[in-house]
Amino acid sequence: SQKPFKILCSRRPDYTPNHIPNPNYVRIFDTTLRDGEQSPGATMTTKEKLDIARQLAKLGVDIIEAGFPASSEADLEAVKLIAQEVGNVAGEDGHVPVICGLARCNKNDIDKSWEAVKHARFPRIHTFIATSEIHMMYKLKMTKEQVVEKARSMVAYARSLGCNDVEFSPEDAGRSEREFLYEILSEVIKAGATTLNIPDTVGYNWPREFGQLIADIKANTPGIENVVISTHCQNDLGLSTANTLEGAYNGARQLEVTINGIGERAGNASLEEVVMTLKCKGELLGGLYTGINTRHIVMASKMVEEYSGLQVQPHKAIVGANAFAHESGIHQDGMLKNKSTYEIMSPEDIGLYRSNESGLTLGKLSGRHALKSKLLELGYDIDGRELNDLFWRFKSVAEMKKVITDDDLIALVSDEVFQP
Ligand code: KIV
Repeated sequence: SQKPFKILCSRRPDYTPNHIPNPNYVRIFDTTLRDGEQSPGATMTTKEKLDIARQLAKLGVDIIEAGFPASSEADLEAVKLIAQEVGNVAGEDGHVPVICGLARCNKNDIDKSWEAVKHARFPRIHTFIATSEIHMMYKLKMTKEQVVEKARSMVAYARSLGCNDVEFSPEDAGRSEREFLYEILSEVIKAGATTLNIPDTVGYNWPREFGQLIADIKANTPGIENVVISTHCQNDLGLSTANTLEGAYNGARQLEVTINGIGERAGNASLEEVVMTLKCKGELLGGLYTGINTRHIVMASKMVEEYSGLQVQPHKAIVGANAFAHESGIHQDGMLKNKSTYEIMSPEDIGLYRSNESGLTLGKLSGRHALKSKLLELGYDIDGRELNDLFWRFKSVAEMKKVITDDDLIALVSDEVFQP
């Protein structure tokens, strides 16, 4: 009586007419509003969450994990609103995102999750229980048999409510015993799970190890060919993006990520890093691709930064303030000759439109070529001795100031330093 996952996917042009996705299509599951909000101090209002969910839909995210409805009445209401307002509206490319709610493996959590997500056109319940020895012994105080039974019965319960799309996560899979994982995963598949998410909950794996985990699960779990394998990598060792990509390379076709990489402790794999790596190197990864409209990335990043209050570090890959800024003289000279010398993607690809066309940031390492080019952008055509004089004056100011702004340059020029 259970419908296979295939026909439950939201529509995309990439999908064949019978809604079977191309095997190289990688679903992006965004958990900014759930795991991301678990970052200390990142609590957001319902209105802010709704805004972010709309932006995620605009980005073309396949699945939005909108929250953890059993955690509070407010969260239940926020997830419900997102299900109603975002989960029924087709985005720019005609696809409607799946709206997902998290639930522990108990009836109350699952009921609350269903109460919130059922208003969406494509609702999903995501239920989880820990499977590592450490978690089962100290946190759950349950035996393996009890954990398997709980997982199996709660997945079946979620399906019995009428939810045709149920995701299951063995929490701390990265530190769980392999044979036990195969067993519990095959049991939840039989009970009706449609996506199996493999979390490296404490960010303990390294890329080869995590890739092998996904490959082993794919090879050894009975029934796995009928479900989607997913990754959820935390960033405790700074390896979450690399681990996620290894997971995709080894067969995962759903990747769980957050905008700006926010999340518990050191955060999660970041959407922008994972998606842009697939965009730049998808061919090398076996032709993998996503449905994300990357031109909406910058806007999503800014919105999450403002609403969560978690500032993006300047050198953060893709969305940091310095990600497309060039300061050293050698780099600036290369950029002025050809942008591909020092940029592997164009800022417009992520929706970044620099006021400063060349991306040059003037500072103490900048050379004459960059200064001249910047002055031209500002409308000053200065050459020869005048340029030389201005250059040394600029250098002495740059020794004292970290960054020379347009206003600083205009002040330098109007200082009549190069008058005879
Ligand atoms: O990190 C984790 O294990 C989780 C699961 C609930 C997917 O967030």
